[in-house]
Amino acid sequence: MNPDAPDLVVRNGRVVTCDGPGGGLGIVERGAVLCRGDRIAWVGPDAQLRVPEGAAVLDARGGCVLPGLVDPHTHLVFAGRRLDEFEARMGGEDYRAIAARGGGIASTVRATREASDAVLLDGAIARLHAMRAHGVTAVEVKSGYGLSHEQELRLLAVARALPSRVPVRVTTSLLAAHALPPERRDDRAGYVREIVERTVPEAAARGLADAVDVYCDEGAFDLEEARAVLGAARQAGLAVRAHAGQFRALGAAGLVASLGGLSADHLEQVHDEELRAMALAGTVAVLLPAAWRTLRQRPPDVERMRALGVRIAVGTDCNPGTSPCTDLPLCAALAVRDAGLRAEEAVLAMTAHAARAAGMADGGRIAQGARADLAIYPFDDPRILVYALGDVRASMVVFEGRLVDGEPAASSW
Ligand code: NIG
Ligand code: FE
Repeated sequence: MNPDAPDLVVRNGRVVTCDGPGGGLGIVERGAVLCRGDRIAWVGPDAQLRVPEGAAVLDARGGCVLPGLVDPHTHLVFAGRRLDEFEARMGGEDYRAIAARGGGIASTVRATREASDAVLLDGAIARLHAMRAHGVTAVEVKSGYGLSHEQELRLLAVARALPSRVPVRVTTSLLAAHALPPERRDDRAGYVREIVERTVPEAAARGLADAVDVYCDEGAFDLEEARAVLGAARQAGLAVRAHAGQFRALGAAGLVASLGGLSADHLEQVHDEELRAMALAGTVAVLLPAAWRTLRQRPPDVERMRALGVRIAVGTDCNPGTSPCTDLPLCAALAVRDAGLRAEEAVLAMTAHAARAAGMADGGRIAQGARADLAIYPFDDPRILVYALGDVRASMVVFEGRLVDGEPAASSW
């Protein structure tokens, strides 16, 4: 951050702070936001704003000013596409059956291992540009398509390099426990041991991972394996999260909550006691609507989550298998339609709650001291973010207190 950079003021906006009383939207009509350095210095009614000398001024023209959106669940670093598998799935073949015959995650692992760092980086950058057009300024990025010690660390290093190429904040999760690598088919315990004893500690020591994730489900890793991996993460001082209950409630959501984890994601299947534990621990439920759509699943029970007091976020789950999607507001719009998330909840699910899930407590809100990352939209009602079914675009994006230039479009796929 350049300390000499001029202050930046956004004025004449409908400021949706996502930091309202009681955790509501908190709208400031005819509001303004003052950014100083990479932090928000002031937010309030435009009429009370004193524009500092030399400040850059952006006119929101009556549009919504939101905190930059946060995508709390992505698999951005991968190579290849899965078009044949997609067709097979749309024709009725089962996701887990495809995985069992060596397709699915394993096919992306093959393509990813063969790809150079530069190819992986370029693909992730293209997808980030697409995300940013919708107003996303922060993204959680997982490994998980390397599935060996070296490859998983390589993918995390690629994820770590992204902010030097795109104005976006990235938080990383090690997902070595995404699938059993084909070459370790007869050495399941050995692979888990390697993750626990080597990959997690090294990812932590080298500063490559902020968190550890595990895919705990039928056909993936079981609860004991998840406990070992996430326990190692806590020991190494890393945050924890899990892919939990996409197909069966094996207990991973409760496990994450018991470890004070950031989020349990998917949750098509989850027990009430797990939801209660999540509410108590502040573990966020991350809904992944594009994945449940692609897999033609029944959506998670949002009403139960709401009744039990669980915070809800939405992610794209951007990946080449279950969710070839870079449009976070579209995902939230699907959560509203499919799962009954309310429009206001959906906005919080992409901002304040998503930031918590991503482990970015100083993001996702417009408040003094929070990060000066803003998304400004050409409409005055934040519900339009989810009323429109896809392709909601920000008119301006501010990252670390500066207006971000538009980026040339490149194909994300
Ligand atoms: O979040 N469920 C596991 N992982 C991804 C899918 C990964 C893939 O199919 O490549 C998910 O949906
Ligand atoms: Fe995922």
